[in-house]
Amino acid sequence: MWEKAKGVLSMSDMLHIGVLASGRGSNFQSIIDNIESGQIQAVMSVLITDNPDAYAIERCRKHNIESLVLKPGDFHNSNSYYAHIADELIQREVGLVVLAGFMRVVGKALIDTFPNRIMNIHPALLPSFPGLHGQKQAADYGVKIAGCTVHFVDEGVDTGPIIMQAAVPAYHDDTEDSLAERILRKEHMIFPNAIRLFTENRIKVEGRKVIVNGTREEQSIINPLTTDK
Ligand code: GRF
Repeated sequence: MWEKAKGVLSMSDMLHIGVLASGRGSNFQSIIDNIESGQIQAVMSVLITDNPDAYAIERCRKHNIESLVLKPGDFHNSNSYYAHIADELIQREVGLVVLAGFMRVVGKALIDTFPNRIMNIHPALLPSFPGLHGQKQAADYGVKIAGCTVHFVDEGVDTGPIIMQAAVPAYHDDTEDSLAERILRKEHMIFPNAIRLFTENRIKVEGRKVIVNGTREEQSIINPLTTDK
């Protein structure tokens, strides 16, 4: 049964989001902006980063969001690292974990704590070009359509159920950077959108398939526009 989307929620009724990010955090920013404008009714509870120099930390300062630096090297092993992250998130009553440029393969301890409650953004149209440098892989391959994917995280590398995709044109003279920039603009659209649908309880997972209770547009990709720069 789908639960009806509610009206304006109080802070305590809202979903708490925890973000994991390693770098500049432009996707993190797009989520913050959507929360602040009321498009997403959720609380941004905490940023956890593995990188003390991540610009995402500065974004937290600007928006009064807690940030935690947790470095894997300070833990016995990967399992204790991800178990600790899971504990920190549970303490803050996080209901959705968002990987926004977290440059690590997330461990089982975290995945098992948040089944189908961890979302990642990948800069390619999965299942093509998983792993690092998706944009470069696409540019080098010579595809004519590239894009990005929001998916739930499972134990594989970018293999979890696909929630939403957006496509952009790719040109023969694209560099990794020019293509990455075009894709990034779409990332900033579909990631907050997927999160909004989740907060509205309009997403369910059946096996590999993600079922979105929404319009045809919300259920599928955002198509390329030939006018896209
Ligand atoms: C994005 O390209 C995202 O798709 C990938 O890592 C990059 C993060 O960029 N997972 P930003 O830190 O959100 O600006």
